[in-house]
Amino acid sequence: MVRLHVNIDHVATLRQARRGLEPDPVAWALAAEAAGADGITCHLRKDRRHIQDADVVQLRARIGTLLNLESSLDPEMVAIAEASGAEAFCLVPENRKEVTTEGGLDVLGERARLSDAIPRLVAVGGAVSLFIDPEPEQIRASADSGATFIELHTGSYANASGEQRAAELRRLSEGASLALELGLRVNAGHGLNYENVGPCAKLPGIEELNIGHSIVSRATFGGVAEAIATMRALIAGA
Ligand code: PXP
Repeated sequence: MVRLHVNIDHVATLRQARRGLEPDPVAWALAAEAAGADGITCHLRKDRRHIQDADVVQLRARIGTLLNLESSLDPEMVAIAEASGAEAFCLVPENRKEVTTEGGLDVLGERARLSDAIPRLVAVGGAVSLFIDPEPEQIRASADSGATFIELHTGSYANASGEQRAAELRRLSEGASLALELGLRVNAGHGLNYENVGPCAKLPGIEELNIGHSIVSRATFGGVAEAIATMRALIAGA
């Protein structure tokens, strides 16, 4: 079965809104594992807008499944990833002004930094994945890069509708097939939700889906009744 890796960045986004302690992304990750997540993914961004360095340390110490750490190619971030103990690394583009990761990595343009980062992450035992758009030239360059996996960027598919969505799904499917032919393993993610995940779970050879925002959003909503009832009970009992 396709593995579900749960991205917990936005639990940390909520905590950072108050720079406090709750909600704790590590406790949330443990609950996600208990509920069936096959792995936990987080993105330590250079601007530290959500996940913090201490979260990565605590996650690695406390979760029982795989930790997949997303990192940019910034040398400081690669050095942190190298020392993190994570079992998997997903290399992503990063731009300070973006709201979320926009577009895939330019594997051709980043050849120099990738040829430094990939062997270092492989040497610490990590499975390295490149987050790319489903473009044949990026897939071919990924196959030559030393990475084991690609993670196909599903954002354009998720944002499209009707015919356009069908076309984006074809691109993903053809991209996955090409990657498999070239010996790459295939993951996918970004923008997947309860309405659009099905076709991506059936992409050729797909091993893992990385999903964050929609799961965190739904969990927040699903917990409303308990949160209100508990607070009312505390007020009533005071
Ligand atoms: N995969 C990668 C490489 C990402 O950067 C992200 C977002 O951080 C995701 C998957 C998850 O995207 P979403 O939060 O939209 O599910």
